Amino acid sequence: RLPPVVTIDGPSGSGKGTIAKLLADRLGFTLLDSGALYRAAALAALQKEVDLADEAVLTQVAKDLDVRFLVSDGRLQVLLEGRDITNEIRMERVSMAASTVAAIPGVRAALLQRQRDFRLEPGLVADGRDMGTTVFPDAPVKVYLTATAEERARRREAQLREKGVSVSLRDLLDDIRARDAQDMNRKASPLAPAEDAVELDSTGVGIEEVLRRVLALVQERT
Ligand code: C5P
Repeated sequence: RLPPVVTIDGPSGSGKGTIAKLLADRLGFTLLDSGALYRAAALAALQKEVDLADEAVLTQVAKDLDVRFLVSDGRLQVLLEGRDITNEIRMERVSMAASTVAAIPGVRAALLQRQRDFRLEPGLVADGRDMGTTVFPDAPVKVYLTATAEERARRREAQLREKGVSVSLRDLLDDIRARDAQDMNRKASPLAPAEDAVELDSTGVGIEEVLRRVLALVQERT
């Protein structure tokens, strides 16, 4: 029997990352932030100044990707060739590049087994776009977390403001819409709820309440 997996998929800013982290802590499960893998691949490509339209070279970058995840002080650290890229991969230009790189089938294939390797005892919480549809289709608990684009832009703005970064809500909304469109309309593993996923709309719902609903699902299904 394989360890259980809880998949949390949804668009950027839906709160997946936050919920996945809290859930993994609560359950004592391993956490897979699959977006960070695509972000690391995108950053590697940007650093190598690879043409983001060159699928063959980008696939090779993904195959060679030397990325490691470390948990220190309860925080997830991402290392690329040993260098800490935790903050750098959250920059807007890396977000868009990640979405572009992630549309390439060769890149997705190169990262597939790496993601499955996170499935360890006593269980895994995996967040992303295709955790429930492609990477862990047999997961006993699948959540599809959404929120309106406006709410997601406001959350992102608040996050950035906390870090002392000021950006226009309008620009954030445009970025979110562009990334949604790119993620939902691609051919390879587009963002979509798995047939057996439970859809949760987090618009106007607090983190604690979303977490409570997801925990209830886990209890019911594992
Ligand atoms: O979740 P996050 O915003 O960090 O993901 C960054 C980008 O990586 C997404 O916009 C998406 O294009 C891609 N991604 C993906 N499949 C996943 C996780 C992320 O295509 N499982």
